[in-house]
Amino acid sequence: MMPILFFPFLLLSAIFAQQGQSLVKPGSFLTPTTNSSWPSPSGLYAFGFYKQGNGYAVGIFLAGLPQKTVVWTADRDKPPVPADSKLNFTTDGRLVLQSAQGAETGLASFPEGASSVSMLDTGNFVLLNSANQTVWQSFGFPTDTFLPTQNLSHGQALYSSISETNKSTGIFLVLMQEDGWLAMYPVGTPYTLDYGYGGLGISGQKNDVVLQLEADGHLYLINGAGTIIVNMTDGYLAKDVVYRLTIDPDGILRLYSHDMNQNGDWTIKWFNPNNDVCMPKGLCGINGYCVAIDLQVGCNCLPQFEFVNKEEKSSGCQRNFTIAESCKSDIHAMEPVPNTVWENNNYSIIISTTQDNCGEACLQDCNCEAALFKDGVCTKQRLPLRFGRRVHTDSTVALIKVGKSTPTIDGYLPKESKKEHYRLDILIVGVSLLAFALVVLAISGIAVYRIRVWSYKVISNHGNTVLGEDVAPKSFTYAQLEKVTGGFKEELGRGAFGTVYKGAIWNGVGQRIVAVKRLDKLLAEREREFQTEMKVIGRTHHKNLVRLLGYCHDGPNRLLVYEYMSNGSLADVLFTPQKQLSWNERMEIARKIAKGILYLHEECESQIIHCDVKPQNILMDAHRCPKISDFGLAKLLKADQTKTFTDIRGTKGYVAPEWHRKLPVTVKVDVYSFGIVLLEIICCRKSVDHDRPEEEAILEEWVYQCFESGELGKLVNNEEVDKKQLERMAKVGLWCILDEPSLRPSMKKVLLMLEGTVDIPTPPSPTSFLSAI
Ligand SMILES: *[C@@H]1O[C@H](CO)[C@@H](O)[C@H](O)[C@H]1NC(C)=O
Ligand SMILES: *[C@@H]1O[C@H](CO)[C@@H](O)[C@H](O)[C@H]1NC(C)=O
Ligand SMILES: *[C@@H]1O[C@H](CO)[C@@H](O)[C@H](O)[C@H]1NC(C)=O
Ligand SMILES: *[C@@H]1O[C@H](CO)[C@@H](O)[C@H](O)[C@H]1NC(C)=O
Ligand SMILES: *[C@@H]1O[C@H](CO)[C@@H](O)[C@H](O)[C@H]1NC(C)=O
Ligand SMILES: *[C@@H]1O[C@H](CO)[C@@H](O)[C@H](O)[C@H]1NC(C)=O
Ligand SMILES: *[C@@H]1O[C@H](CO)[C@@H](O)[C@H](O)[C@H]1NC(C)=O
Ligand SMILES: *[C@@H]1O[C@H](CO)[C@@H](O)[C@H](O)[C@H]1NC(C)=O
Repeated sequence: MMPILFFPFLLLSAIFAQQGQSLVKPGSFLTPTTNSSWPSPSGLYAFGFYKQGNGYAVGIFLAGLPQKTVVWTADRDKPPVPADSKLNFTTDGRLVLQSAQGAETGLASFPEGASSVSMLDTGNFVLLNSANQTVWQSFGFPTDTFLPTQNLSHGQALYSSISETNKSTGIFLVLMQEDGWLAMYPVGTPYTLDYGYGGLGISGQKNDVVLQLEADGHLYLINGAGTIIVNMTDGYLAKDVVYRLTIDPDGILRLYSHDMNQNGDWTIKWFNPNNDVCMPKGLCGINGYCVAIDLQVGCNCLPQFEFVNKEEKSSGCQRNFTIAESCKSDIHAMEPVPNTVWENNNYSIIISTTQDNCGEACLQDCNCEAALFKDGVCTKQRLPLRFGRRVHTDSTVALIKVGKSTPTIDGYLPKESKKEHYRLDILIVGVSLLAFALVVLAISGIAVYRIRVWSYKVISNHGNTVLGEDVAPKSFTYAQLEKVTGGFKEELGRGAFGTVYKGAIWNGVGQRIVAVKRLDKLLAEREREFQTEMKVIGRTHHKNLVRLLGYCHDGPNRLLVYEYMSNGSLADVLFTPQKQLSWNERMEIARKIAKGILYLHEECESQIIHCDVKPQNILMDAHRCPKISDFGLAKLLKADQTKTFTDIRGTKGYVAPEWHRKLPVTVKVDVYSFGIVLLEIICCRKSVDHDRPEEEAILEEWVYQCFESGELGKLVNNEEVDKKQLERMAKVGLWCILDEPSLRPSMKKVLLMLEGTVDIPTPPSPTSFLSAI
C-alpha cells in the first residue's frame, strides 16, 4: 500500500534529483521523445512536448502527477507536429519549432532575444532578459486553465478546449469584463445578457476587478482597492494539494484539486453555473436542444431533424427531408417542442395571439421556418435555431414547420431523391441571406458599437439585483425588491408573518424565480438582531430547508427572499384529494421533514427552534421534495400562533401545550408540532375536521382510540399499507404529542424510530401526564 500511496512523491524527488537547475540557457533544445521537457525546480510542472492526436503539441503540464494534466498549450489551434520535430532555444534567444527538414516555425507570441527561459513551480513559464527580468509569461496568455498566483484582469478570458484530448479552442469562454463581472459566453456571441450563461460579480465595480486563486484554493474577485468583492470559495487545505480552475469543454467553469498524497483523480471543489448542465448555450449545436438527464447533457433534434454527426452531438442537427419550395400550407404542419428556450432571432412579431394562430401564421409565411410562442407573443424565426435547451419551468413552445406525416410529392421526401431541390433551396436561402445581410449592414452602421457599449450597462444594471449562487444571503434595497416582484404584483400567499410575492432575479446564471416575503410584525427590540439573524438563517444549508437567498433591511421595510417552491405547500398536497400521495411517498416526506427539523435542532451552527412547524410552512419543490420554510423567524416576530390555533374544544392544533403554560420553550415544541404533522401525513387529513363524525373530529384523539382498539386501518381509510409500518408511524406520532415535553423524543430519536432502526415502546395516552404537571 505505502509505495503506491507515495508514488507521486517518489516521482517528484526523482525529477528533482535529475534536474537541479531551472534556468534554461540558449542552445538548449527539446525533442518529443527524448529530453522532451524542461521541468520546474520541484518537478511539479514541466514545459515541453506532450502527445496530442497522432503527433505532439508544446505546452505546460503537471509532470508531478501520474496523469499528465495539460494546463497551457502554445499555438493551441495549430496542428500537432511529428515526432522528429525539435523545439530549439537558439543561441540568439528564439524559441522555434524546427522540422526534421530544418524548416522553422516561431511559436506565436514568444518575443525574440530571451537570455534564458524558466519553468516556475507555479506553472508559469517565463522568458527572461539578460537582467533576469520577465519579458514574457505564459500566465499572461491563458488557454483554458487558471492557476494559483495567476491574474485574470479585464479583457482577459479563458477559452474551453474542444475535448479532454484535443486542446484546440472550444466553444465557450469565461471573460473578466470591464464592469467587474466574470461572465461566461458561447464563443462568437456578443457579450450581452442575452448570451451570457454563467458568471459572478457585483454591480458598481470599475474595470479593475481581477480574478485570483490562492494556493489553498481560495478563489475570489478582488477590486483595485484591494477589496474582495466575491468569494467563490473560502479556500481549503494548502499542503500537498494542487488547484486549478478550468473552463471545461462542456462550458462549465470548475475548480479542481488534487491531493499529492493520494493516487486518485482530480476532485471538483466548486463549479459554475451550478444549477443546470444545459446552461452553457450551444452544447447541442444548431437545431438541437439540450435536455439534462441525471446531470448529464442529452441532445435532441427538432422534429424531423437528425444529427449531422451521431458521434458528435454538438455538431447539431439538419432536416432529414427537403422543405418544399412552394409554401402551400397544406403540405406542412407545425410541430410543437414544449418548454424549450432558444435564441430569439425573430424577424416578425405577433402579439396577443394564441399558439394555434401563431402556428397558422408561420404556415402561411414562406419565410417562416419556426415560431416561438410564449405568453401570447408569437415570434417568427428562420432556421437555424440556436442555443436550445429544455427548461421545465418555462412556458415557451417552439413551433417547428415540418412535412405532414403523410409524405406528399413536394413536401416530405428523403434528401437523396430531391438533390436538385435541395441545391436550389440553398441558393435561394443563400441569396436572401446575402441580401438581408447587406440591408442590415447598410442600416446598422454605428448601431453595432452602441449595442456593445450598452451591453455592459445591461449587465451592470442587472447586477443591482444579482444573486450569486455561492454568496450568502444578500442585502437588498426596498426598491430592488419592488423591481424584482414587479411592484409586488403576484401574491403567492399570506402567512402568520406576512405576505409572499413571486419575483424573478438575475443570479448571474439566468433568471431565477424567487418568493419574496414581506414581514409585517417585527418586534421592536429585535430590530438590531435582524441582520445577525438573517446571517444565521442564511448559513443553513440542508436539502429539506427552504433557502434564504436575501433580505431587505431598508427603512421600515423588512423583506426576505427565498427560493421559489413550485409545488405549493404540504397542506395543498396533503389535503387536496386529487393530489393523493401514495403511502410510500408520504413516509418519505415525513422522514425528510424530520431530517430538516433535526438539522435545525442539532446540526446547524446555532440551534434554531422553528416554533411553527405545520403543513402550510412545509413547501414542496418541483420534485415534491418537502422543504421547511419560515424557520428562524419566531425569535424576531411576535409569536402569536399560541392564540391562532386554539380551538374551541381545547385542541392545540400544532402548538405544544407548554406555550399556553408559559413554560420555557425548547426544541420539544417542534417535536410536538412534528407529531401532529406526522399524524396528518399518515391520515391525509387536517388535525381538526368538524365535518367528520364527533369521535373523529380531533385527529390526535381519534388516532389514540384507533391505536388502543387495534383498528389503525381506519386511519388510512383501509388503504393497502404495510401494517407494521403504519403502527410504527402512529406510535412515533403519539410519542411526539405527549403533553410533557421531557417525555417527547428528540428529533434524532424520532428519525431513528421512523426509519425503524430502534424499537418503539407503547406510547401512553397523550394527556395522561397532564395531572402531574
Ligand atoms: C538530455 O539533456 C541532458 C542535459 O540536459 C544531456 O546530458 C543528455 O545527453 C540529453 N539526452 C539526450 C538523449 O539528448
Ligand atoms: C482538434 O479539433 C479540431 C476541430 O475539431 C480539429 O481541426 C483538429 O484536427 C483536432 N486536433 C486533434 C489533434 O485531434
Ligand atoms: C537550433 O537552431 C540553430 C539556428 O537555427 C541551429 O544552428 C542549431 O543547430 C539548432 N540546434 C539543434 C540542436 O538542432
Ligand atoms: C540571473 O539568475 C541566475 C540564477 O538565479 C544567476 O546565476 C544570474 O547571476 C542572474 N543574472 C543576473 C544578471 O542577475
Ligand atoms: C497578480 O497581481 C498581483 C497584484 O495585483 C501582482 O502582485 C502579481 O505579480 C500578479 N501576478 C502575475 C502573474 O501577473
Ligand atoms: C472573503 O473572504 C475573506 C477571508 O477569506 C474575507 O476577509 C472577506 O471579507 C470575504 N469577502 C466577502 C465579500 O465575503
Ligand atoms: C425523419 O426523422 C423523423 C424523426 O424525427 C422520422 O420519423 C422520419 O421517418 C424521418 N424521415 C426520413 C425521410 O428519414
Ligand atoms: C425579437 O428579436 C430581437 C433581436 O433579434 C429581440 O431584441 C427582441 O426582444 C425579440 N422580440 C421578442 C418579442 O422576443
